[in-house]
Amino acid sequence: MLASVVCLLSVIARRLTPLSIMVRERTFIAVKPDGVQRGLIGEIIKRFEAKGFKLAGMKYIQASEDLLKQHYIDLADKPFYPGLCKYMSSGPVVAMCWEGTGVVKTARVMMGETRPADSKPGTIRGDFCIEVGRNIIHGSDSVESANKEIALWFKPEELVSWTQTNESWIYE
Ligand SMILES: *[C@@H]1O[C@H](CO)[C@@H](O)[C@H](O)[C@H]1NC(C)=O
Repeated sequence: MLASVVCLLSVIARRLTPLSIMVRERTFIAVKPDGVQRGLIGEIIKRFEAKGFKLAGMKYIQASEDLLKQHYIDLADKPFYPGLCKYMSSGPVVAMCWEGTGVVKTARVMMGETRPADSKPGTIRGDFCIEVGRNIIHGSDSVESANKEIALWFKPEELVSWTQTNESWIYE
C-alpha cells in the first residue's frame, strides 16, 4: 500500500517537475586504450560537450590491473574477464565523470551497442570501431554502477561542481 502511494507520488512528481530540477545524474565514461591510441579522445569528449552534458571530473591514467579487476568485478566469472582487464590496463585511458539529466542512459545511446557491429552509424561505436574487444569506450550501464564506478576511479575532491553558463539554454 505504502509502496503504491510512493510510486504514484513519484509519477505525479515526474509529470510536474521541469527537467531543470530533476535529478542530475552522473555517469562514468572512459576512453579505452584503443580509443586513446587511435587519437579519438577529442572526438569523444566533443560529442558529450556538444550534447550539453557537464564534465565533473577527468583524468588521464594507465589504470592498474587491480583497479580494472574491481571495475569489472561483475564479469569476474566470464571467460573473457582476464583478457578484458589486461586490454584495459595495456595503455592509458581517459576516465571521466559526466553530469546531466538522464546522462547514464543517454550516454549509452550515444555510445551505441557493446558490439560495434550492432551499433548504428552516428553512435560512437557505430562510427569508429569494429570489434567488441576493441570498442574504444566504456560507459556505466545503470545509475547504481555509475555511482560505484565514479567512487572507484575518483576521490570526492577530484570531482567539480560548477555552473555551466549556458545551462538555461540546455534545460527548460
Ligand atoms: C555553450 O556555450 C558555448 C559558448 O557560447 C558554446 O561554444 C557551446 O557550444 C555551448 N554548449 C552547448 C551544449 O550548447
